[in-house]
Amino acid sequence: MMSHWVLYLSASLCLIFNLVASSPLPKTDEKGGNDSNDGQHWVGIWTAMPQLVEPANLPPTPFNGLDSVFYNTTIRQTVQVGLDSAKIRLRLSNAFGVNNLNISSVAVSHTMENEAGVSTIQPGSTKEVRFSEQSSISIPSAGLAVSDPIEFSVQAQSILLIDIFLEKGQDGFAITGHPGSRTTSFISFDDHVGEKDLKTNGDAVQSIEHWYFISAVEGFLNSETRSFAIVGDSITDGRGSTTNKNNRWPDLVQKKINQDEKIPKIGILNQAAGGNRILHDGLGPNAVSRIDRDVLAQSGVQFAMIFEGVNDIGVAESDPKSQAEIGDQIIIALRQIATRVRTAGISFGAATISPFGTPPDSNYTQPYSSVEREVTRQRVNNFIRNDGVFDFVLDFDRVLRDPQDQSVLLNEFDSGDHLHPNVAGYQAIADYFPLDLFL
Ligand SMILES: *[C@@H]1O[C@H](CO)[C@@H](O)[C@H](O)[C@H]1NC(C)=O
Ligand SMILES: *[C@@H]1O[C@H](CO)[C@@H](O)[C@H](O)[C@H]1NC(C)=O
Ligand SMILES: *[C@@H]1O[C@H](CO)[C@@H](O)[C@H](O)[C@H]1NC(C)=O
Ligand SMILES: *[C@@H]1O[C@H](CO)[C@@H](O)[C@H](O)[C@H]1NC(C)=O
Repeated sequence: MMSHWVLYLSASLCLIFNLVASSPLPKTDEKGGNDSNDGQHWVGIWTAMPQLVEPANLPPTPFNGLDSVFYNTTIRQTVQVGLDSAKIRLRLSNAFGVNNLNISSVAVSHTMENEAGVSTIQPGSTKEVRFSEQSSISIPSAGLAVSDPIEFSVQAQSILLIDIFLEKGQDGFAITGHPGSRTTSFISFDDHVGEKDLKTNGDAVQSIEHWYFISAVEGFLNSETRSFAIVGDSITDGRGSTTNKNNRWPDLVQKKINQDEKIPKIGILNQAAGGNRILHDGLGPNAVSRIDRDVLAQSGVQFAMIFEGVNDIGVAESDPKSQAEIGDQIIIALRQIATRVRTAGISFGAATISPFGTPPDSNYTQPYSSVEREVTRQRVNNFIRNDGVFDFVLDFDRVLRDPQDQSVLLNEFDSGDHLHPNVAGYQAIADYFPLDLFL
């Protein structure tokens, strides 16, 4: 038995080496679809962390039928891209699908007002999106599709509108998406890809604050332009920011980057989801498991960071033993993640965990707040600040905490639940964020 496998393996390896030696495949990825890449490469300029859409965040009926989701449906979604690019391509994800995701047609357009969460296309701006020269593609379960390069110019912080039509929908209910879009999407029966206004197509149009299937936009950019992947939870996903205003803290840092002439262009990849934990699945897969897909497999990543741990600490029991254990595990996991990311040649940093204590005079008790959990937060933060495993440390705790009571958010940065910052808090993170780490 054994020897058969060895033979089979060595035969396969010979085959692979022969293929590599005799007919190297053209690297169309790096060439943006033509023969001269002029030192350009693909770089992520927008992402949303793919996750299994929970039942409550699936589209409403009738778009969620008896056997399939999005049958005969056009989904119109908007995203804000981080950098200028004359040429783009899309990634559509079926990472959590258990059946094929059959995409019938896709197009990109500019919006009328350059605003997120709108359903009206700027006439004449629409470009068809193709996949390996086909207008449709069937993406296997757990798979991904990268579009062909699209000659479509976007500007930094502009809104890109993406239409996707699914003729048959996706079988079953394992749908990949990003529920915490904080951006309005529109769904309507029939193929309306590229039509000016989805809203004129009758009562069947519904709006919904989630993203489905779209997982990245990439620009074809100079070799010095790179991306920066942020692994995070709801604080990075933007809970407490304004729907359709793109004022999550990474959006505000992107704006700061774009206004700074001294640093190279960096595309920020927001790879965060509400409720996400480093060690356990729940709302999205745990961070240890998703690093490969959400950081290492992204285009042009030169920098990455993690800002997580609050949900690990807050969901663990608050007794001293449970908290000592979760603290140990978080520290090991952060070391593990740092090793993997840095092995890929990526500069890796971490942000300290911001406070979640209940202020003494508050009429609302933050469920995570407890003396023992505060001990764990301080312990993990001391590790992040002092251990030296990270290439850079961002002290978000120091930015957001109340100097008089370091276990609570500064009142002016508190969205009200004593855990999530408000927009002023997100702006404070961006104001603090040291861009020289990109030099
Ligand atoms: C190929 O791409 C390069 C870089 O984007 C561009 O300068 C050149 O004009 C393109 N050539 C053709 C034939 O499209
Ligand atoms: C999707 O495409 C696959 C392969 O082409 C096919 O077997 C499957 O039936 C299709 N699914 C739907 C829902 O049409
Ligand atoms: C798709 O939806 C449109 C609009 O409701 C309807 O007219 C059409 O018959 C539907 N097509 C199929 C194949 O169900
Ligand atoms: C807590 O007090 C604030 C005013 O200080 C009030 O606006 C809010 O509604 C109160 N919340 C609850 C849960 O009572």
